Amino acid sequence: MNNSKKIVVFSGSGISKESGIDTFRDAGGLWEQYDVMDFADIEGWYKNPELMMDFYNYCRTRLKDIEPNEAHRILAELEKNFDVTIITQNVDNLHEKAGSTQIIHLHGELTKVRSSDNPGMIWDIGYDEIRMGEKAPDGSQIRPHVVWFGEDVPMIQTAIDVVKTADIFVIIGTSLNVYPAAGLIECVKKKVPIYLIDPDDVNCSDKRVIKIKAKATDGMRILKNMLCEK
Ligand code: OAD
Repeated sequence: MNNSKKIVVFSGSGISKESGIDTFRDAGGLWEQYDVMDFADIEGWYKNPELMMDFYNYCRTRLKDIEPNEAHRILAELEKNFDVTIITQNVDNLHEKAGSTQIIHLHGELTKVRSSDNPGMIWDIGYDEIRMGEKAPDGSQIRPHVVWFGEDVPMIQTAIDVVKTADIFVIIGTSLNVYPAAGLIECVKKKVPIYLIDPDDVNCSDKRVIKIKAKATDGMRILKNMLCEK
């Protein structure tokens, strides 16, 4: 094993499924009278900010009691032997709770809020609720720190730069449907192996992809054995 080897992981909502969080496209539950896509679009904020606040308050409060699963934990453990950076599309904090130390959140974080006017004015609020009328230091309405459809993805260049340094690239629990995030695979250097963990068929035509058709926990156990044998 070689701790100078760089593993870059690209995770999506499937990695958190075994912790009890629905995948993005399966999400519903209490909110099933709504289309979850309405909560992922800036138009939802313009149309009904109270409803958006309620939805994200609900998700944030619920997150408090949700624990990482073995897939998150194995990724954290791999730091003992590899230089691991995780690029996640998830707004949950389960990679952090599991102990991973290098995490890039492409689509924001539930436990943070930001100014409506200034995307760079972001701060931690833990699991607290936020309300209409609460102001950011710049006087604007505070809002969830979530990147919605129709908005720029400020962390994408940082993610691209990290992907270019990968010796091993791992994709886990994402349908690869959402760009620019899904385009990161095109930035992986030639000859770098790409592992893809998902229980379903994910449409990915890259010839380098080694598919591990399994749930996140089983898939990470298999991958750990493959990586640690080398
Ligand atoms: P999706 O719901 O599109 O995809 C979830 C993936 O997880 C699918 O490929 C499932 O087969 C897989 N999956 C299901 N159960 C699993 C398990 N136990 N272990 C591993 N994988 C499993 O969610 P994402 O790809 O994460 O963005 O969605 C990406 C982005 O789309 C989200 O971040 C969100 C959304 O629009 C924004 O809100 C900006």
